[in-house]
Amino acid sequence: MQVSLLYFDEESPAAQRLAEAVGIEALRMERHRFPDEELCLRLPDAELPECLVVYRSLNRPNDKLVELMLLARHARERGVRRLVLVAPYLAYMRQDIAFRPGELVSQRLVGGFLAELFDALITVDPHLHRIERLEQAVPLRQAVALSAAPALAEAIAERRRDALLLGPDAESAQWVESAARATGLAYGVCTKQRHGDREVEIALPELAFAGRRVVLLDDIASSGRTLAQAARRVLAAGAAGVDVAVTHALFAGDALSVIRQAGVEEVWSTDSIPHQSNAVLLAPALAAALGPLLDVA
Ligand code: R5P
Repeated sequence: MQVSLLYFDEESPAAQRLAEAVGIEALRMERHRFPDEELCLRLPDAELPECLVVYRSLNRPNDKLVELMLLARHARERGVRRLVLVAPYLAYMRQDIAFRPGELVSQRLVGGFLAELFDALITVDPHLHRIERLEQAVPLRQAVALSAAPALAEAIAERRRDALLLGPDAESAQWVESAARATGLAYGVCTKQRHGDREVEIALPELAFAGRRVVLLDDIASSGRTLAQAARRVLAAGAAGVDVAVTHALFAGDALSVIRQAGVEEVWSTDSIPHQSNAVLLAPALAAALGPLLDVA
């Protein structure tokens, strides 16, 4: 089956690394925003192949979901038989229940939307909290959830050999435990109560923090308040220093400066979202997962 990968400008380096690792052609999408905010997408002149991989990380998701709808429907009309979405960051996964009566459960709705458009999906550390498997959120036969925790852990261990890994909340336990398994580093998990978008309370686990270098490990830094609050707590408990490692560097608004003001020294992330903190490249893991999904008659 002929295969090409389509990418957009913002994600060009990571998408091209992936295309190169898999050995497929990378085609750049053109995107124009009209004054009224409608979008015009333009494909390269090349013929579309039978199998199209679309690389689109879903930070700032609202426009991107419309782009995916336009692109996938157009591709089907043009005879593309197989559509694979590589979305290293998968948006809307945190709204997995109605936290207040009447709220829409976006995880299921967005997941269902993507499953109607694509045949297969690869993502990294999707925020699956109350469900265990990605297919429960995105009902596709081929829905692959990779974890960057072991690779982030290696990056941490190279830089902070005796770090104490700390997850800021119960959800982070899955990533912190797997990072600790990969490196043998000690770990703990905090408890968190969220009172609003930017208001969180963190309680530390019963561990000796005095004199330790702590690395906070989480899937997402969004407003940065979770990490900032956890950093303040560990420094107040006597830690020698605190750094941060996250899979998805969303860092909305003032997040990075809030984290720095809380005393965080280094910030490391994967390239699931392009950001100055990117320290771990996902192309090798994505390529290993993508290869078998292309090998379908
Ligand atoms: C939630 O459980 C996630 O794992 C993150 O901890 C959360 O999304 C971080 O959000 P913020 O940076 O806005 O505190």
